[in-house]
Amino acid sequence: MKIASIVGARPNFVKLGPVHKSLKSSGIKHLIVHTGQHYDYEMSDIFFSDFELPNPDIHLGVGSGSSCFQLGEIIKRLENKLIDKQIDLVLVYGDTNSTLAGAICANKCNIKLGHIEAGLRSYDPSMPEEYNRILTDHLSNYLFAPTRNAVNNLKKEKIRGKVYYTGDLSVEIIDKTRSISKNSEILDILNLQSKSYLLLTMHRAENTSSRYFFIQLLETFEALKDNIIVFPIHPRTKKMFESFGLLDRLLKCSNVKTLLPVGYIDFIALLQNSLKVITDSGGIQKEAYLLNVPCITMRKNTEWVETIEGHWNVLTGVDSKKIVKAVRRQTPNSKYSESVFGNGRTSRVISELVSSIISH
Ligand code: UD1
Ligand code: UDP
Repeated sequence: MKIASIVGARPNFVKLGPVHKSLKSSGIKHLIVHTGQHYDYEMSDIFFSDFELPNPDIHLGVGSGSSCFQLGEIIKRLENKLIDKQIDLVLVYGDTNSTLAGAICANKCNIKLGHIEAGLRSYDPSMPEEYNRILTDHLSNYLFAPTRNAVNNLKKEKIRGKVYYTGDLSVEIIDKTRSISKNSEILDILNLQSKSYLLLTMHRAENTSSRYFFIQLLETFEALKDNIIVFPIHPRTKKMFESFGLLDRLLKCSNVKTLLPVGYIDFIALLQNSLKVITDSGGIQKEAYLLNVPCITMRKNTEWVETIEGHWNVLTGVDSKKIVKAVRRQTPNSKYSESVFGNGRTSRVISELVSSIISH
């Protein structure tokens, strides 16, 4: 029996890391298919190296374009590969275009489909990822849900596939990476002291499509001129700074250290040593929570509702006044519950489930 994981974007690679290792140690034949959605070294290859993943078995080389372009090209290029390699089960991860394309292709090729990180909902229709999640879940035969809330969301939608509660992969990923990250040199390279700076990322399509939000971000930087802000810039965001004609104003913010996106080990080093993180990422909200770093989320909602408990995560939208207020607010002293994301055995649970699925 052969399994193929379809991945293509940064958050897919992070989740693939532990799953590939567990499948391999269970003796399961596992192929990695990279769609090519992300292709810059620091958006793709560095994750294969940081997670000690082998090179992808198949690379579809799709690259950038509209969502329709990406979905269409991935499906078209993937179909024959899945058939030629006689794949019995396809695994997809999270909520990217590569996830949905992999799911549609598996379904149309009559191949069983498993969705890792199933059941998350922000209930925000302005997020392209929300439709990717819903559609992928409804196409899936096996749904691996990371939280109890995710299981309940799927029940509410009367999902047809079989739902398994697995816990979330981030617990074991963070457990392992937080110690490896102690050897990262990124703080020295950037001349940063631990707990002396804020970390910031922004890339969501709905946040980067409006010049107004970039002005809000710049006003945040200007209002926080006494804080060092470390800003690894996603290529989409860099492109939009340029096309809105705002790159010069960003470069004038001397408190902001802009850098290319960094690999996972360096990113976790930056995150665990930061005072607070300001982000619109999904994964970073969870990682901050697990590392005990207060998170300010530049969104109006979140699919990771567990992180909101005890004010470890505050939702501000891209609103400079709210962000600045949240930065200045005291660090929460409430207890937080690590166990909401499971016990750190998720990749093992998934590979045991996969073994039993393919042996029936
Ligand atoms: C994608 C996912 C999003 C995820 C994010 C993680 C979808 C719909 N969105 O968004 O859920 O949070 O990845 O980072 O799948 N680009 C480069 N080099 C690259 C990759 C992208 O320059 O290696 C630029 C291109 O100009 C491209 C733009 O970034 O058009 C957006 O890339 P795309 O993959 O379409 O979406 P992301 O914003 O990365
Ligand atoms: N990340 C990284 N380097 C960076 C920014 C993010 O390694 O410069 C990691 C981050 O820790 C997270 C993953 O990339 O686990 C995906 O984050 P992203 O914000 O790109 O996607 P999302 O989780 O919002 O889909």
